[in-house]
Amino acid sequence: MSDTALPAIDLFDAIYTARAQRRFRPDPVPEELVDRVLDAAIRAPSAGNAQNWSFVVVRDADQRRAVGALYRKGSDIAAAVYAARDRPAHLTEAQWQGMLRGSAHLWDHMGDAPVLVVPCLRQRDLPARDALDPAWRDHYEDERAYLDRIRSASIYPAVQNIILACRALGLGTVLTTNHLRVEAELKSLLGIPEDVDTFGLMPIGWPERPFGPLSRRPLHEVVHFDRW
Ligand SMILES: Cc1cc2nc3c(=O)[nH]c(=O)nc-3n(C[C@H](O)[C@H](O)[C@H](O)COP(=O)(O)O)c2cc1C
Repeated sequence: MSDTALPAIDLFDAIYTARAQRRFRPDPVPEELVDRVLDAAIRAPSAGNAQNWSFVVVRDADQRRAVGALYRKGSDIAAAVYAARDRPAHLTEAQWQGMLRGSAHLWDHMGDAPVLVVPCLRQRDLPARDALDPAWRDHYEDERAYLDRIRSASIYPAVQNIILACRALGLGTVLTTNHLRVEAELKSLLGIPEDVDTFGLMPIGWPERPFGPLSRRPLHEVVHFDRW
């Protein structure tokens, strides 16, 4: 892929401004840009370099509407959960309300984004217990729990690459997960095989709102030196 079409944006500028974008202009997103974003996604690390990811790209308007309706359904409980939650202390009331408004807007408009991307992973089991060196067979269940613990770490780095690549191209996106509450229906709609799980639903489009800057809890609150 040629680098000549790449926009000039500093990596740190992208990191500091790639805010969650939940409102999109209706203008189409050229296929080459989506390819570019996904080609960045697959540069991500994965456990054992398994690369057992897949990305379902939904562009068809009817299919987007159907996915959007499922996102709406999966989001119903989110309203109740957020209404019961206290505002995190590090957010101002304006920041908190802004996030709630943006999230609620997306519940009703997911299907309006010109492109939807569903990052997926094929399940990857352990080798058979008997194939292990006998000295390690007693650790089989622990090892399975370890694999479960690290599984999503083989897709979310690719998701972050999507977020940053979108930012570099001037496109907006946001990682959403509400569809997981109705995942079986989404998988059936998109024909996703049984042994493949979904980890996100990412709308991609030209953002209505400006990028960044991002505000976060300061380093001194979250970093520990030498020990917690
Ligand atoms: C695991 C995860 C799940 C998320 N799920 C949703 C979601 O379902 N809907 C949504 O609108 N945003 C979702 N977000 C986006 C967060 O709300 C967003 O990253 C956060 O508010 C920071 O926004 P900012 O980068 O614009 O400051 C999710 C983010 C993460 C990391």
